[in-house]
Amino acid sequence: MSVLVTGGTGFIGSHTVVELLAKRYNVIILDNLSNSCRETVDRIEQIAGRAPQFVEGDIRDKSLIVNLLQDEPIEAVIHFAGLKAVGESVQKPLEYYKNNVYGTICLLEAMCAGGCKNMVFSSSATVYGSENRPPFNEAMPDGVTTNPYGTTKLTIERILRELYISDKDWSISLLRYFNPIGAHKSGLIGERPSGTPNNLMPYVSQVAAKKLKKLSIFGKDFDTADGTGVRDYIHVVDLAKGHIHALERVLGNSGLDVFNLGTGKGCSVLELVNTFQQVTGQKVPYSFEKRREGDIAECYADTSLAKEVLGWQAELGLEDMCADAWRWESRE
Ligand code: NAD
Ligand code: UD1
Repeated sequence: MSVLVTGGTGFIGSHTVVELLAKRYNVIILDNLSNSCRETVDRIEQIAGRAPQFVEGDIRDKSLIVNLLQDEPIEAVIHFAGLKAVGESVQKPLEYYKNNVYGTICLLEAMCAGGCKNMVFSSSATVYGSENRPPFNEAMPDGVTTNPYGTTKLTIERILRELYISDKDWSISLLRYFNPIGAHKSGLIGERPSGTPNNLMPYVSQVAAKKLKKLSIFGKDFDTADGTGVRDYIHVVDLAKGHIHALERVLGNSGLDVFNLGTGKGCSVLELVNTFQQVTGQKVPYSFEKRREGDIAECYADTSLAKEVLGWQAELGLEDMCADAWRWESRE
């Protein structure tokens, strides 16, 4: 069975392709390499012992996608492609709407034309906004997004819901990721932020590797046990495996589902930094700074729906996430 993976050379996409190949799916990656590199395809092959097909191209290129769907029967699309930097989205909102929202519309139109109506989509916990209280569950109302990136995710979720209402042949899974970190155990694939990282784990790893001087911890006065922000960090390999479960559900019946993919456990910035130092033996100097605009105190998932319906739950702990992130960082 063949699956088209948009954004398949990216961080989460590459780990998911490895899991798909292990489950004997044929994989066609479509990626424009705007935030990843061609070498990842070879590394995926090294891990999986089998190569995915790679097509360099853009999700906005409808005729390319229609041709791909006509060349061989593709049963489903796992759609990762998109831009994801919150700060950059504030500077370049049009680019984010064009890439993420318009890009997804082009992909959906091509899927309609090519007769493929099964999709797994990468959404984000950011859609819960700051009005809901954690643990976040899928039945909560949509939150108010505070940046263009978040708004693109919420908008695409709405487009997919409305598409399903208009045509019940669609089968769609909206996956709301919490905070994916870590890397593949092999050290061959991982997250490759361009420029200075914005997210916590890549920043911590680069401080440990002495590429950056020290970590700024944004806020120590949140209403949390140690005053620092709490997030639900999930190992990217666990997250990748969640996609296989969602894909199997999408292939098995039509409908529209929403699932949180997280561990259900909150972890503070200080806990993560301390665990990283213990597990890797590396020092991570830090100082406390003022809160980062837009940050909420706590964000973690209610994971019961994914467990009940998909039969999936995260298995790896914070120690694995830190050890694997460090292995990747120190190999790069
Ligand atoms: P990533 O940047 O590593 O991967 C995205 C991939 O998509 C890249 O390889 C990039 O080259 C490609 N791409 C971008 N625009 C494209 C286009 N128009 N056509 C073809 N390819 C294109 O990001 P990631 O961390 O792997 O995230 C994957 C998806 O998950 C994204 O949609 C992201 O918004 C979503 N997500 C990520 C996180 C996270 O913390 N990493 C959290 C929630 C949701
Ligand atoms: C951020 C985005 C979110 C996006 C996710 C994955 C914001 C407001 N949210 O989530 O929309 O889906 O990344 O790309 O940007 N921290 C520090 N110092 C740092 C970096 C982070 O103290 O240098 C803290 C943050 O304040 C937060 C925690 O670490 O408490 C996690 O931050 P981060 O990794 O950026 O993820 P989120 O903010 O949860």
